[in-house]
Amino acid sequence: MFRIVVLVSGRGSNLQALIDAIAKERLKARIAAVISNRSDAQALERARRADLDSVVIASQPDRAAFDRTLESVLDGYNPDLIVLAGFMRVLGDALVRRFAGQMINIHPSLLPAYPGLDTHTRVLAAGDNEHGVSVHFVTPRLDAGPVIAQARMPVDTDDTPQTLAERLLPAEHRLLCAVVALFAEQPVELRDEKIHINHHPLEHPLRLGRDWPQAGDRRR
Ligand code: GRF
Repeated sequence: MFRIVVLVSGRGSNLQALIDAIAKERLKARIAAVISNRSDAQALERARRADLDSVVIASQPDRAAFDRTLESVLDGYNPDLIVLAGFMRVLGDALVRRFAGQMINIHPSLLPAYPGLDTHTRVLAAGDNEHGVSVHFVTPRLDAGPVIAQARMPVDTDDTPQTLAERLLPAEHRLLCAVVALFAEQPVELRDEKIHINHHPLEHPLRLGRDWPQAGDRRR
């Protein structure tokens, strides 16, 4: 079974979406462990209710020490894929390189637009008429790794950061589950900063609901 480890820091609604998709057999994977850098993360309660292994690695100022601990915990679970789902700590280059091609992050913007925090506020301040969410490979530059897939939604004139966040969340959950399923079903590889799906280079991020490759579509 395809093994994932999910890294979290807070509410854990994306983790819950993965747990639910697996329970409903829409996602054929197993969550080997949930790792949090905060002991008070609501995500840990979700992991407990789903009877999942969880590990807290408390944030500490010594970044290298944190990363070394995280690396050894990750190695112990031998994941096929590491999913950063609301994980709010920046990881060091060495750790990111160690798991290159095996680590993905969900980010609430249409990357490369708006890396970093407060994406909903920044979308409104810029007057954009479209917003969305991206799942990308984690590389040493923050929120700048190659984008695997996105979901888009229109911005309404009366939107606030809160309404945007609320409307985007279900799309985040669908996108993350769909991308993890993609990894579980076929090779998704990162070669020289370029994504290959089923050994074909991906020219543009996949768009949820439009150009999703079918499971088992193993053209070579
Ligand atoms: C989501 O908006 C995700 O895109 C961002 O952090 C938030 C985490 O939400 N990276 P949750 O903890 O999964 O509910």
